[in-house]
Formats: sequence, C-alpha cells, structure tokens
Amino acid sequence: MIIQIFENADQVAKAGANLVAAQLLEDPQSVLGLPTGSTPIGVYDQLIRLYEDGVISFAETTTFNLDEYLGLSKDNDQSYYHFMLEHLFSQVNVQAENINIPDGTVDDPVAECERYEQAIAEAGGMDLQLLGLGRNGHIGFNEPDSFFQKATHVVELTENTINANARFFADPDQVPRQALSMGIGTIMDAAKIILVATGSSKAEAVKAMVEGNIDPLCQASILQLHPSVTILLDRDAAALLS
Ligand code: F6R
Repeated sequence: MIIQIFENADQVAKAGANLVAAQLLEDPQSVLGLPTGSTPIGVYDQLIRLYEDGVISFAETTTFNLDEYLGLSKDNDQSYYHFMLEHLFSQVNVQAENINIPDGTVDDPVAECERYEQAIAEAGGMDLQLLGLGRNGHIGFNEPDSFFQKATHVVELTENTINANARFFADPDQVPRQALSMGIGTIMDAAKIILVATGSSKAEAVKAMVEGNIDPLCQASILQLHPSVTILLDRDAAALLS
C-alpha cells in the first residue's frame, strides 16, 4: 500500500485525477472502475478540467461503475447512473456504449449481477479501479459482514450506509434498502487501485483499513493484500493512523 497524506480534500482530488490521467495517457483504451459518492466529485471535476485542457481523452475508454441502487431507474435523479452523467460522463467524450453501470430496474437482479460480472471479464477486467471508502469501511457497497463476497451481487444496505446516504434524498424513507455491487473479488482483480478518503468521519475506517487485521467487518482491509494500491488521504481522514 502506498499512502499519501495531503493537507486538504482539494489536493486529494488533484492527486487522484492525476493518477487516473496518467493511466489514460499510458493507455487511452483503459478500462476504469468508477465510484459515486461525495469524495470522487473533486476527482471528476479535475478530470473534466484535464479533458477540457486537451490533456486527456475518454474516447476509447471503457468504464464500469461499482454499484447501483436496486429499484431506481436511470432517469431517477438519485440513481448512480444519473450521478455519473451529471458529474462526469456528460462533460467528457466517453462513448455511451462504453459506459457500464448495473441496471437497478431489472426483474432478475441475480441475472443482472452475472451479466455485469461477465461484461467486466469480457472487457479484460479493470486496469484501474478508483474507490471511495464508507464510514463503516465498505468499498463499493460491500458492507461489513462475516465474509468477503467475491463477485457482483445483491446487497442489503446497512442502517449506517442508509443514514449516510439519506443526505442525498428529500425524504430518508426514499433511500433504497438494496443495491447491486461489484464484489470484493471483482475489485481485487483490478490491476491498480486508487482509494480516496477525506474528512474525520472516515478516520476510523481508514485506521481499520490500513492498520487493522484483514477482517470482513472492515471490507476495505482486504486491500492490504493487493499488489498495487494507492491510498490518498487528507489530514482529517489520516488523523488516527499511528
Ligand atoms: C459508491 C461507493 C461507496 C462510496 C462510499 C463513500 O459508488 O462505491 O463505497 O465510495 O460510500 O461515499 P462518500 O464519498 O459519499 O463518503
């Protein structure tokens, strides 16, 4: 694990975007794994700037998002599809046919998980997976559990995650209780992983991820076993590291 600690969230965003940009410059046909959430918004803003400045192009890039709420359609403004369109895809030259997000509206979510996993395999797996970190140590929507789930699967969201995500919904009762998420195996198969975490609400999860035992109660702790992980933190998120 390479751990970089910055003064503030803005620097974390710039560092994250620079690493993604380096990947695209090295291989414009890269397959990127992408998260939603508040933390990556700064990374996406910086990527848009680099695209507008002519430094990077997404024309040949394929993307796979980590997760999607079950039951929300693409045009629901709380869906992760909508989030990605707003914060990245509508502002860069990624091709619509190269965008992949689990479909939360299907009749058979288990079959959708299998289809998604297959699509990732057919694309050759992720060259670079960008991650955020849940307050409870989740990555994607892999919630604290007694085991690590391997492949894309249906998730029952924890109260902790439902509460954390309620800020995006007008009514907390509207937060979906289930999601589709890449598994820990899917994430760990990425050639490179970059995780961004900022703010004091992430400090305990960061400590458990970096210094704790590898334990499915902190799903991100498995990243200790990945050969190429870069963790980008601000001072607040890094505050509990010894
Ligand atoms: C969402 C995802 C989640 C978030 C995590 C942190 O696609 O993968 O694991 O990264 O919940 O979210 P924020 O950045 O909003 O604190």
